[in-house]
Amino acid sequence: MKLRGAKVMVTGAAKRVGRETALQIAAAGGSLLIHFHRSEKAARQLKARIEKKYGVRVFLVQGDLGSYEQIERIAEQAWQAFGNIDVLVHNASTFYPTPLGKVSEAEWDDLFAVNAKAPFFLSQDIGLRMKKRGRGKIIHIADWAAKHPYQGYIPYCASKAALLAVAQGLAKSLAPQVQVNSILPGPVMWPDDLGEKVKRSVLKQTPLARIGSAEDVASAVKFFIEGNDFMTGSELHVDGGRHID
Ligand SMILES: NC(=O)c1ccc[n+]([C@@H]2O[C@H](COP(=O)([O-])OP(=O)(O)OC[C@H]3O[C@@H](n4cnc5c(N)ncnc54)[C@H](OP(=O)(O)O)[C@@H]3O)[C@@H](O)[C@H]2O)c1
Repeated sequence: MKLRGAKVMVTGAAKRVGRETALQIAAAGGSLLIHFHRSEKAARQLKARIEKKYGVRVFLVQGDLGSYEQIERIAEQAWQAFGNIDVLVHNASTFYPTPLGKVSEAEWDDLFAVNAKAPFFLSQDIGLRMKKRGRGKIIHIADWAAKHPYQGYIPYCASKAALLAVAQGLAKSLAPQVQVNSILPGPVMWPDDLGEKVKRSVLKQTPLARIGSAEDVASAVKFFIEGNDFMTGSELHVDGGRHID
């Protein structure tokens, strides 16, 4: 699929990896639907920057993906903004430690709601519309830890494993019109609150011995959009080799 002229929705795109993905898509001529939750100022700044620099159309849609009630409204607003959507990138995610013995039901529900349930229901709505229209791509940003769970983050890792299962199920159900693929990043941007000791230990367990970048994930997203049309249900590691350590 050509990115030039494509209409691309990226969830959680105001900052960090989502923002870089939006910028790379715009640079390649794609129009954007930027979803955000709390980062309204950053989303507005990004829209202004993209429109000025790349001259493509940008719509903003706000919403809490942890709320089932809001998902239908987000999907409808997003589809109506352009009249259709060619690509949906599930990037929004919630991530925090949940040490075994201290995990609350609310934390489990929150992590699963944003990381697995919301992508499923957004895709159920938008993916079926894509299928009916005859084309579309859906890209899930998962995590290498979906298959190698971190201690102290079991619910997060399990929610990302569920996201991979959702991708495979959708890939079968929406074929042949819609291709659904997943990216499994390793460390590409540190969480703000991660200590130096943990960072050193992560790098020690990463064969390429360095952190990646938001650009590394964004370029994988671009690959799934315009680099290949014969992949569906695939899982691409962008993790410096972390999964083979
Ligand atoms: N960073 C890494 O090294 C790394 C490693 C492995 C996998 N990943 C995956 O790569 C993706 C991007 O990573 P990242 O570090 O850039 O993500 P992030 O900063 O942790 O989160 C991205 C966005 O998700 C949105 N979000 C969180 N809770 C939400 C909710 N309830 N409703 C709607 N949106 C919500 C936030 O939007 P607002 O700011 O607008 O509230 C946030 O800006 C994620 O899926 C992550 O799991 C990242």
